[in-house]
Amino acid sequence: MATIEARDFKILVTGGAGYIGSHTVVELQQQGFPVVVIDDLSNSRASVIGRIGEITGVEPEFHRFDLTDRSRTAAFFADHPGLGAVIHFAAFKAVGESMGAPLKYYRNNLASLVNVLEGMRDARVGNLVFSSSCTVYGQPDELPVRETSPVKDAWSPYGNTKQMSEQIIRFSTAACGIRAIALRYFNPVGAHGSALIGELPLGVPANLVPFITQTAAGRRECLSVFGTDYPTPDGTAIRDYIHVVDLAKAHVAAVCRMADGRAQADFEVFNVGTGDGHSVREVVQAFERVSGRKLPVRYVGRRPGDIVEVWADTSLAGEALGWKAEKTLDEMMLSAWRWQQALEGQ
Ligand code: UD1
Repeated sequence: MATIEARDFKILVTGGAGYIGSHTVVELQQQGFPVVVIDDLSNSRASVIGRIGEITGVEPEFHRFDLTDRSRTAAFFADHPGLGAVIHFAAFKAVGESMGAPLKYYRNNLASLVNVLEGMRDARVGNLVFSSSCTVYGQPDELPVRETSPVKDAWSPYGNTKQMSEQIIRFSTAACGIRAIALRYFNPVGAHGSALIGELPLGVPANLVPFITQTAAGRRECLSVFGTDYPTPDGTAIRDYIHVVDLAKAHVAAVCRMADGRAQADFEVFNVGTGDGHSVREVVQAFERVSGRKLPVRYVGRRPGDIVEVWADTSLAGEALGWKAEKTLDEMMLSAWRWQQALEGQ
């Protein structure tokens, strides 16, 4: 995939103990890249680092601290000369919580980004991959949604931090001497095939798939399907669910694009989805099919703030990154279920 020599190209992964971060560290290490992880473990467990070691045979170098600490972040970059790229995942991501604590989200998600950019500038680290979200599109006027579709007013402080972060990066690349790629994720689900790493939601899950797997495991009484009167074929809302391992691979492709000098601009944006939309009912059916379990479901009203439907136009990512999602909805559900079962067995 890459013409660069991976073993000479060390990559900093912030938030590398988290859900998408940990899967990305695995894919990077399997491609031969040395990785250093920074994570404050505010929404992840230290044991994930050992699990990554079990999967890949290599434990990444790990530093636990909060990236909003400017002097600590600056010291890290000063102590780690020669990094090839940064993949910046570290951020708060709970939409509901961000409504009640907006400043917590602005301080954490924006201050950490600014500190990372300063560190990259001062240490002359040339390449950044940033975790963005399809939430920046709101309810798009046209589907599938393309990268050129307008960014709509944010519905939550969380979504707003993603929009603002993209702009902060866009206006900083030239002055900081960096290239950047923002990946706009659609709905990441599933877990690593080893069932050693996966999503670890805190408390009651807000997202659909962890709620489904916890319900099937008997931790939740019943899945509430939010809204059956949407203008969609079966009345439930539609999203573009993407397997987290496919998503992780898109980060490796983004790093290689920049490192190989194939980037067409200092700042590029790509949708990372499958290009297919699935309704909530379809997700539930896929889960029941692969797990052989019937889910207790109740149908309730729409969840405030939810959009009707969104799925990605992935042609740009296909052309530019040479990347395509490969895993099916059934594979997403099966891996999520195996991960839940592994958690239950612990
Ligand atoms: C949410 C976030 C989005 C974030 C993404 C990360 C909101 C408004 N948006 O997207 O910013 O990037 O997670 O994965 O929270 N559903 C149920 N029952 C449930 C849970 C969900 O029916 O118990 C439905 C929802 O109404 C929605 C679909 O399942 O139609 C997916 O929901 P969810 O997994 O929370 O993702 P999003 O809301 O799309």
